[in-house]
Amino acid sequence: MRMYDIIHKKRNNEELTNEEIEYMINHYVSGEIPDYQMSAMLMAIYFNGMNDREISTMTNVMAQSGDMVDLSSIDGIKVDKHSTGGVGDKTTLIIAPIVAYYGVKVAKMSGRGLGHTGGTVDKMEAIPGLKTNFSQEEFFDIVNKTGISVIGQSGNLAPADKKLYALRDVTATVESIPLIAASIMSKKLAAGSDCILLDVKTGSGAFMKTLDDSISLAEKMVAIGENCGKKTVALITDMDIPLGNNIGNSLEIKEVVDTLNGKGPKDLTEICIKLAGNMLYLANKGSIEDCEKMAKDAIENGYAINKLIEMVEAQGGDIDYIKNPDKFEKSKYSLDIILEDNIDGYIGSMNTEGLGIASTMLGAGRETKDDDIDFSAGIILNKKVGDKVKTGDVLCTLYTNDEKRLENAKNKVKSSISITKDMPKKLPLIFARVEKNNIEKF
Ligand code: URA
Repeated sequence: MRMYDIIHKKRNNEELTNEEIEYMINHYVSGEIPDYQMSAMLMAIYFNGMNDREISTMTNVMAQSGDMVDLSSIDGIKVDKHSTGGVGDKTTLIIAPIVAYYGVKVAKMSGRGLGHTGGTVDKMEAIPGLKTNFSQEEFFDIVNKTGISVIGQSGNLAPADKKLYALRDVTATVESIPLIAASIMSKKLAAGSDCILLDVKTGSGAFMKTLDDSISLAEKMVAIGENCGKKTVALITDMDIPLGNNIGNSLEIKEVVDTLNGKGPKDLTEICIKLAGNMLYLANKGSIEDCEKMAKDAIENGYAINKLIEMVEAQGGDIDYIKNPDKFEKSKYSLDIILEDNIDGYIGSMNTEGLGIASTMLGAGRETKDDDIDFSAGIILNKKVGDKVKTGDVLCTLYTNDEKRLENAKNKVKSSISITKDMPKKLPLIFARVEKNNIEKF
């Protein structure tokens, strides 16, 4: 078999055989196929796509390229969750404690920030002392004791995805349905949970910008999960506006704590109740309605914040920061973005990807993979889409420890927020729910 012939086939929009897919993934991981040939293949897939069989074969080969985690030594139903990536998306740290309170086990491996999107592991590391790398034994122990542990992806989990993702990131081939589906589901299959909840983001801050593409991605991922014997549900959620008000690592941890204390922003709280409700449903805890009610109760009665504290303590973090988030170090510099134009109106739209990039420019994300993160950097939004604004209002505040970063970030933020005379149409927070053989649109 020759990689040249496989690339040629896909370039001409022909189907690849299972053997060809196995050959190209395994030989790429072993280093026998060079990046330049795999880049050409990724671009061919980006333009010509893959059918369901090709996607499913690629996912399985990628999953099996490394360790397949066996969670059987953890008692009870294990439910995993994955978001396709967004700005201000701190839902894992809210919903995992909620479901863990009800005895559902969450043994979760999360990612770091990617492009304009944030990552759960970076956010967690904003909590002083907290560790996100443990041996498998320690990881299982924490889950058995507390019901929950969130750690970084182990070195040998789906190494094919790690290598392919890094290549996609620099070859403009991230936004491809077959490639995203195989990337996410290979990790989920390798991570070993019984059920999977997928949060597929849609809108300007998501990799999938349209609802149709998001639904199609969700359908493919749900089918892969179900075909591999995992109960899988996907919610299509809004990422046309950042989620919550805070973007940036310790700023987002504060918002997690506020939300678990019942004082979070409405959009974030509502989405978390739906996501947690669906995780509980997947774990057979009742109907969706009952499970959503359970999720609400866990916030209202303080059960979930206590679970988060247990997890932080088990992972070596200083729980005083969760009990009193004002302890988080403030950044040295801040800048209010004020509406100067002489117009009164509404926030008409936000380019959410632009706000994610601005947050990275402030130091909250990495420009190159070796950059250190400034945990206190980021943006707090005072106004969001649909809010009434007038000249002189503070739209948002930027935070950083490096004053030189403020100017470029300010320009990026300003160009990412548009003001309109008329109130924009309100979009739902959740557009659809995709289950095996069923799509429910809201
Ligand atoms: N998240 C992933 O893990 N992979 C993708 O391809 C996109 C988002």
